[in-house]
Amino acid sequence: MKIAVIGTGYVGLVTGTCFSESGNHVTCVDINEKKIQQLESGIIPIYEPGLEEMVKRNIKARRLFFTSNYEESIPDAKCIFIAVGTPQGSDGSANLESLWKVANVLAPHLSEEAIVVIKSTVPVGTNRKLAELLESLTGRVVDVASNPEFLKEGTAIDDFSKPDRVVVGVSRPEVSATLHELYQPFLRTENPFLSMELESAEMTKYVANCMLATKISFINEMANLCERVGADINQVRRGIGHDQRIGFSFLFPGVGYGGSCFPKDVSALISVAQHQNMEPTILNAVDRVNVAQKKVLFKKISDYFKGDLEGKTVALWGLAFKPKTDDIREAPSLVLIDELLQAGVKLKVHDPVAMENVKAHYGDKLSYFDHHYDTLEGADALAIVTEWNEFRHADFDYVLHRLSTPVIFDGRNLYDPQKMKQKGIDYFGIGLSSVK
Ligand code: UDX
Repeated sequence: MKIAVIGTGYVGLVTGTCFSESGNHVTCVDINEKKIQQLESGIIPIYEPGLEEMVKRNIKARRLFFTSNYEESIPDAKCIFIAVGTPQGSDGSANLESLWKVANVLAPHLSEEAIVVIKSTVPVGTNRKLAELLESLTGRVVDVASNPEFLKEGTAIDDFSKPDRVVVGVSRPEVSATLHELYQPFLRTENPFLSMELESAEMTKYVANCMLATKISFINEMANLCERVGADINQVRRGIGHDQRIGFSFLFPGVGYGGSCFPKDVSALISVAQHQNMEPTILNAVDRVNVAQKKVLFKKISDYFKGDLEGKTVALWGLAFKPKTDDIREAPSLVLIDELLQAGVKLKVHDPVAMENVKAHYGDKLSYFDHHYDTLEGADALAIVTEWNEFRHADFDYVLHRLSTPVIFDGRNLYDPQKMKQKGIDYFGIGLSSVK
């Protein structure tokens, strides 16, 4: 099938590449000509394991193409996926400016059979508005479909190629049949293709992300409570997880969720509810808990040093909002860095892949190190914000001898508190009881 994907961000690039991998003729379109030139030569602008090789392979096989030109790519395309950004606007709602711009440019080039599919996360009602706009621009009914994407950064290719489910919103069964054909290579009996009304598909994406965000804020609140009552969240987590109705996934306490989706989608759904004159009590709480959770590590550090932070040095391991990505959008590390800098702390930081993005943000306000151990020399404390695998088995004797104060503030509960105590390290995790 001939496909066009508009927008070569995370979702667009992964979607286009994976569809080309299953034999389709895919053209990825982006107005950023420099990005297109880079992509044409196999240079990808994001860090995503496995993506670069897949892009190169499909370019070579002449199944994957890149262009800034709509005239070249749209008239032949049966399905046109729109995967442009829908960032959070100043009022919390999703900003759809890019989507409407694309629709206007796209309309004159659409063939009679074309299906325009929105992959971007958009508020309920957007697909119908797009259908109306395309009808007014072309003078005929254009098929529109909603196809939300559930992929995660760091495991994007696997998530796309082996989806738990594919959700499409359509207004005619024929549209659903075409999309089913396209997704067939990725489907398995236990991973269904779910076709529904446009509004339900749009809502599914928000509800999925908000449910996951709710789990995280819930476990973080419980972790904070555990600390106060002398319980250990890791034990409680196991205690509840074996109940199959609860399970284990997405119940890891930490320093709050970040990234390009959860914070934005929770705010957008709050805004949707408010437009319907409904106060979204749970969503408001999820957001509030998360904003506060990003500050817990700073409070622990400040309490430990009795508020006397001026002139101290903190080594910081992990800057990306989660491992296996260089993405620092809404990352908890940024909140901690800002608070520490404000308190007059010097920071020695390391991240395996996100350092360039942090440098672009903070410049010479921080000291950057290529190896995590090199941050430790003379630091008064070590703080860990992202659970990169390489931090999991640290040489604690080495760590201990480099730090001026033997203290670790661990925002991801990587280490065994018992072991830390034996080593003579003061260890503070999230929701852990103090070792007796
Ligand atoms: C998320 C959704 O998982 C994905 O389905 C959607 O398409 C986009 O948004 P992503 O933002 O890439 O994906 O990351 P994810 O792995 O879901 O993690 C989000 C945040 O939650 C991270 O900051 C992570 O550290 C945090 N998290 C996750 C926790 O704090 N605890 C957990 O148990 C799980």
